[in-house]
Amino acid sequence: MGTTIKHSWAEPFKIKMVEPVFITTEEHRRKALKEAGFNTFLLHSDDVYIDLLTDSGTSAMSDRQWAGIMLGDEAYAGSKNFYHLEEAIQTYYGYKHVVPTHQGRGAEHILSQIMIKQGDIIPGNMYFTTTKLHQELAGGTFVDIIIDEAHDPGSSHPFKGNVNLQKLEDLIKKHGAAKIPYVSIATTVNMAGGQPISMENLKALRALTQTYGIKIIHDMTRVAENAFMIQQKEEGYQHKTVAEITKELCQLTDGATMSAKKDAMVNIGGFLAINDPDIYDEARNMVVIYEGLHTYGGMAGRDMEALAIGIKESVQDDHIRARVGQVHYLGNKLLEAGIPIVNPVGTHGIFIDAKQFLPHIPQDQFPAQALAGALYLDSGVRAMERGVVSAGRNKTTGQHNYPKLELVRLTIPRRVYTQAHMDVVAESVACIYSKRNQIKGLTMTYEPKYLRFFQARFKEV
Ligand code: F0G
Repeated sequence: MGTTIKHSWAEPFKIKMVEPVFITTEEHRRKALKEAGFNTFLLHSDDVYIDLLTDSGTSAMSDRQWAGIMLGDEAYAGSKNFYHLEEAIQTYYGYKHVVPTHQGRGAEHILSQIMIKQGDIIPGNMYFTTTKLHQELAGGTFVDIIIDEAHDPGSSHPFKGNVNLQKLEDLIKKHGAAKIPYVSIATTVNMAGGQPISMENLKALRALTQTYGIKIIHDMTRVAENAFMIQQKEEGYQHKTVAEITKELCQLTDGATMSAKKDAMVNIGGFLAINDPDIYDEARNMVVIYEGLHTYGGMAGRDMEALAIGIKESVQDDHIRARVGQVHYLGNKLLEAGIPIVNPVGTHGIFIDAKQFLPHIPQDQFPAQALAGALYLDSGVRAMERGVVSAGRNKTTGQHNYPKLELVRLTIPRRVYTQAHMDVVAESVACIYSKRNQIKGLTMTYEPKYLRFFQARFKEV
C-alpha cells in the first residue's frame, strides 16, 4: 500500500512488545573489551547497549510472522510451510525452483560446488566474505569488476554497485567465456557500504553475458533495499512499486543465493533459487548431504512460514521507506557532525571511514578494528570492522589484503531501534571523534585460518 506523506515519515508499525537493554559502566566495558580481545564479535551481547554489529538475523518479526511460527508444520518431508515459502519466492522474486538452506552461506556452498570447476574465474561487483571463500573452496578465483568509484568513500556516484563492463570484457578476452561459470552480482553491495546497482547497468550486463552464454547469479540478500534506491534515484522508476522493481531485478538473473536473515526479517534462514532445471536437480540432491531434506534444508517448518510472510512484508513501500529512512537519519546526523563516512549513505548501515577518522594509525595496525573498540568503550554501541581484518590474506602470497576501504559498519537491524537510539549513536561517534588522537592501533595476537574477522584477537600497541 503506498501512501503520500506530506511531511516527515514515521514507521508503519507500533510497538507491541519490548526487550530491555542495559547501560553498563565504562569500567565494565573496558574489562569486557579486553576479554573479547578487542574483537566486537567476541563480546557477550549482555554487555552491549545498542547492537549495531549486523542487520543479519537481528530484525524484529511482525505479529503476522510470529503468528506464522505457530502454524509450523514440522513434518520431516513435504511440510506445508515449504510450499508457502516456494510460492512466496516464485510470486515476489519470480525464480522457478527453490532449495531451502539454513542461511545464505549454506546456499553459497551448494551453488559454488555445483557451478565452479578448478581454475574458474568468478567476476563480481565486489567480494563478500563468505561468498568469496566458498568460490575459492570450490577451486575458483574471485575477480572484482565493480566500478572504481565503489572503492572511493568520497565519490558520490548514485550506483556504486554497478559493474564496469569493460573490466568484464577484458576478463572474458583473457580467460575465455568457458572459464567463467557465472557473474556474481550482489544487490546491494555490502562491503562497498550498502550501495545499489542500477537497473540500467544490470540490463547492460545481462545483454553482455548473454552474448557469451555466461549466467548471472544474484546475491539477493538485500534486494528490496536495492529496489528502493532504484525507485528513489533511477530515471523511469519513480512510479513503480518496490515489489515490481524487486521482481524486475531478479528476472534479469538466472538464479540467486539468499540470506533471508536480512531483507526478509527472519532470525534464521536462506535459500538457493534457480531457473535451470539441471542445476536445481543437483542442488536438491546435494542439500540432503549438507543441510537437510529438500523441503526444509536446515530450517524448521515454523521458520519457513515466518520467512514466507517476511518476504511479502519486505517489499512493501511503506516498510522499506521507513527502514532506509532510519539509516539515512543516522547518516545525516553523522554528516552534520563532520564525521567521515562513506558517501552516499547506503541502505543497511553507516560505514565510517576509519582511514580518515584515524590518520595516525597505519592500516597494518587495524584502524577500523581499533575504532569499533573505541566506540564500544565510549557508549556500549557495538559496531563491526570492515577493512583489512575482514579482507583476510592473499591466497598465494599469504600477505594481508589491504583494501582501499577501511571501514567501521554501524549496521541497523530492521524495526528494532528508535530514533532516540540513533541520536545516542551519533552523539557517541561525535564524542570519540573529538578525542580521536587518543585511540591506539592494534596488533593481532590470534588469527584463525578462515574468515578471521569473526574470531581474531588483538591487543593495543
Ligand atoms: N551475502 C551478503 C551480501 C551478506 O551480507 C551475507 C551475510 C551473506 C551473503 C551470508 O549470509 O550470514 O546468512 O550465511 N552478511 C552478514 C553481515 C553476516 O553481517 O553482513 P549468511
